[in-house]
Amino acid sequence: MTATDLDAYCAAGQDRFTGELVEFLRIPSISADPAHGADVRRSAEHVLAGALEAGFTRAEIIETAGNPSVYAERMVDPSLPTALIYGHHDVQPVDPLDEWHTAPFEPAIRGGDLFARGAADDKGQVWMHLKAVEALVRARGELPLNLKLIVEGEEESGSIYFEDLVAEHLDRLRADVLVVSDTAMVGRDRPSLTTGLRGLAALEVTVSGPGADLHSGRFGGAVANPIAALAEILAGLHDPVTNRVTVPHFYDDVRELTDQERTSFAAIPLGDGEFLAMAEGAPAAVGEAGFSTLERLGARPTLEFNGIWGGYAGPGSKTIIPATAAAKITCRLVAEQDPGRIAREVARAVTDAAPPGVSVEVDTSAGGRPVVTPVDHPAVQAMARAVTRVFGTAPLFLREGGSIPPVEIFSRRLGMPAVLAGFGLPDDRIHAPNEKFSLDMYARGIRTLAHAWTEIALALARPRSTV
Ligand code: BES
Ligand code: ZN
Repeated sequence: MTATDLDAYCAAGQDRFTGELVEFLRIPSISADPAHGADVRRSAEHVLAGALEAGFTRAEIIETAGNPSVYAERMVDPSLPTALIYGHHDVQPVDPLDEWHTAPFEPAIRGGDLFARGAADDKGQVWMHLKAVEALVRARGELPLNLKLIVEGEEESGSIYFEDLVAEHLDRLRADVLVVSDTAMVGRDRPSLTTGLRGLAALEVTVSGPGADLHSGRFGGAVANPIAALAEILAGLHDPVTNRVTVPHFYDDVRELTDQERTSFAAIPLGDGEFLAMAEGAPAAVGEAGFSTLERLGARPTLEFNGIWGGYAGPGSKTIIPATAAAKITCRLVAEQDPGRIAREVARAVTDAAPPGVSVEVDTSAGGRPVVTPVDHPAVQAMARAVTRVFGTAPLFLREGGSIPPVEIFSRRLGMPAVLAGFGLPDDRIHAPNEKFSLDMYARGIRTLAHAWTEIALALARPRSTV
């Protein structure tokens, strides 16, 4: 494909685009940590200024009961289609800090990658969108459609107040299509678009025994040990042979895969060997019996343990029976599974499994519902053409195991189909030390999005009235 004015604008601006992203990444916008509240606000203001600079004509901070979002728009002509871009400007916490090769908020370029917390998830991808708009406005003079932008400040803490924000601003956020860049491709030379996201339900289980730690010689063997009780409860949540979740009703609202869906999963050229290489060298692919790795990730629910603590974990030994032990659990959800219902069912199963001599408390917080996007929607196909043009290969369509609850909120509240076009790579280490974003993917992402708006505008164009 021949280079266009857009490609030339992007090529000429690329170094500046990288410099701007570096500045954005210096802001430690960790939404989970209240101590960083002022930083998250600063990051919102940074996005607002960047949006205006890029060519959005109206921009404002939208306050929530939590961290602020940014809204911006450039409305060209009411007869043109309208798209809404969603992204998030908050980032994950950085611990364990000592595993970072360079400081998480002092962005560093090594081997063509930009290392910093939030580089791929999601600040780099938000900035890609701003630069694509800039390219269109500066190189062409105008956008081919109306664009709205909402950049949230709390995605990494579960988007708890985001549904309220959407409900309050329904008219302002309404659009023909939602476009989100907060996912990854299969590989640099294996472009892909995401067609589904799993939902999430989160729980914290606390097992309590004695009112204070006890000497394990004086009391051991005569009272229940909360760590043993917790281990027993957690171990019972999966079947050891099939790896299925044992919680009653857990699978009630899961839809079985159709033969056609299974055929299309099987057709995706990504073997377990390649998958394991992405999984930081995990020794084997393990999961629910009867399903392939890609089916397990895209179309089956899970129950995972994210953290467990209790007792003494320092050097040497300390002979105690701890007063408490606790664990964090999240379930990834698919199809019609409801996060509230799943959290309740898991909580009941955990409480019912408590052995004698301990008490169990469960805190639940619903995360978000799963969503699938229509692969044959004209806007998805339009994005696929833009990807093909820039990457030289047509994208694979793949369901993703991660969650972005706002995508389902927009679908349910505003009936908006989503185009999930993320430019991360599987080895970006999102949520982990040494997160990075490939500068090549950053550049290709900007070009792809710039071309995509023209394709999407054409694909969604309303026939002109002849009256
Ligand atoms: N960008 C991720 C979601 C994601 C990760 C999509 C990997 C595709 C591949 C997003 O920022 C995220 O981390 N979401 C959370 C949501 C949760 C806090 C409700 C997740 O998936 O854990
Ligand atoms: Zn994330």
